[in-house]
Amino acid sequence: MSPSHGIPRHIAIVMDGNGRWARRRLLPRIAGHRQGVEALRRCIRACAERGVQVLTVFAFSSENWSRPDDEVRGLMDLMAKALVREVPQLRDGGIRLRFVGERAGLSARLQQGLAQAEAATAAAPRMLLNVCFNYGGRWDIAQAAAGLAARGEPITEASLDRAMALAHVPDPDLLIRTGGEQRLSNFLLWQSAYSELYFSDRLWPDFDEAALDEALAAYAARERRFGQTSEQVTGALATG
Ligand code: IPE
Ligand code: IPE
Ligand code: MG
Repeated sequence: MSPSHGIPRHIAIVMDGNGRWARRRLLPRIAGHRQGVEALRRCIRACAERGVQVLTVFAFSSENWSRPDDEVRGLMDLMAKALVREVPQLRDGGIRLRFVGERAGLSARLQQGLAQAEAATAAAPRMLLNVCFNYGGRWDIAQAAAGLAARGEPITEASLDRAMALAHVPDPDLLIRTGGEQRLSNFLLWQSAYSELYFSDRLWPDFDEAALDEALAAYAARERRFGQTSEQVTGALATG
């Protein structure tokens, strides 16, 4: 019997498949992204109800700038609008927002919107939502190392860990990717060292509560060994 680890404290999600969802319906890709916001709203509520403490989602990668201009513009616009529409509800639902990524690459107006959303939800106690936006795992490792070097601090695993953009939360226990691809696409390269990976063929807009529960059940059935043997983890060696 493996020890039960119940509900993950921290879930990270690569919300992939919006474009395909739209194209299957002969809709423009941005319609899929809009539907993706709905899926995220549902997912936030479901995670909070299940007692998840931290949810980290990948919303826009360092590499997504290479998409067609109109899609990039549409995504920036969608983020700006979602902030206005969703922040009061998130705050009332006890969800604290934090944006993770390279803000300098975003418009001044959007940067201001992100900062305001963080301030407005700063005291929300129920669950922390990290939105990775203009984020890349390689960017994070490089900015952490550059910060340490600039301060003349030694570069160790512990000091790098503290300098990372996600230093305020424990590493994700469960990392979910929807949309069928089985890759990280530059998400949480450092922090996912011991995350349980779960890939779903569902496109993100179709990822509902039942799909989340399937992922949680799969997670609960895993044995997390962190380099140890199964006997060590289950305590079979403890008595002799
Ligand atoms: C994920 O959905 C959202 C972003 C990358 C912004 P995609 O837009 O990548 O959807 P697919 O993979 O093309 O279906
Ligand atoms: C990863 O999805 C980024 C986000 C979900 C924001 P992509 O659709 O950009 O990843 P690739 O290009 O298929 O690897
Ligand atoms: Mg994709």
